[in-house]
Amino acid sequence: MVKKLLSAARPEDRAHVQYHISCGPGDVARYVLLPGDPDRVQKIASQWSSRRKVAQHREFITYTGKFKGSPVSCTSTGIGGPAAAIVVEELLRVGADTFIRVGTTGALSKGTRVGDVVISTGSVRLDGTSSQYVWTGYPAMANYEVVAAMVQAAESLGVRYTLGVTASTDSFYTGQGRPGFRDYMQHQSEVIIDDAKRAGIVNFEMESATIFTLAGLYHARAGCVCAVIANRETDEFVKEAGVSEAISVANTTVSILNEWDNLKEANGKRNFYPSLLFKNR
Ligand code: URA
Repeated sequence: MVKKLLSAARPEDRAHVQYHISCGPGDVARYVLLPGDPDRVQKIASQWSSRRKVAQHREFITYTGKFKGSPVSCTSTGIGGPAAAIVVEELLRVGADTFIRVGTTGALSKGTRVGDVVISTGSVRLDGTSSQYVWTGYPAMANYEVVAAMVQAAESLGVRYTLGVTASTDSFYTGQGRPGFRDYMQHQSEVIIDDAKRAGIVNFEMESATIFTLAGLYHARAGCVCAVIANRETDEFVKEAGVSEAISVANTTVSILNEWDNLKEANGKRNFYPSLLFKNR
């Protein structure tokens, strides 16, 4: 169907429904889970007490509902920084302010086992998208409230997790030290795993640096929890390993953040700090 949008620079309709994600104001909660895989959206929403499909366009599927009384949405980003940036840009325009990436990852050391999850404290910007927004020295940081809520979620659920710095690449193969077609590889790819390990980097994935950078620039909050489906040291790859656990951590993170946000509001505070939990009790 041919449909005229507001302008080339503002690709949305009169009701502010966004071009790519097909969501408008009121369609999404402030807390939005961001899996890469569109097929994972329904799996995430199946843990909610209520859910409705809000929109579907290209690789972007959105559900909105409630998890343990907290309003929540989930939008798939597809793979990589360019699409993830589109999703964050458009969700911000329709009312989201907290982004929880729930993805899959390759761990770099034996200690982070296939089936575990990784909670990112920040990401090395090996993507291309974030440098089209800001200098490469600008940090891609996870929000401290989201990280703390993720740690609490993993602890309360008994999920094995590693906390640390992630590297986000724009290439799954050569960018993460996997040979390209017919074993194509440049020297930089041959050493990337070793260099990343020397720098204490825990895992490779493909979206968190872009999401964290945009969230930082726009004063939004973001975090990332990933299921470890691959381990580059043991050379294992197990599809869907740890995915249910990562989803449970992400959903539980939303209910913890909602509780903390309510406490902040009740106490007139902008930022969460632990002793807020014990005030007025
Ligand atoms: N996702 C990645 O980006 N890398 C892996 O090794 C596994 C999942």
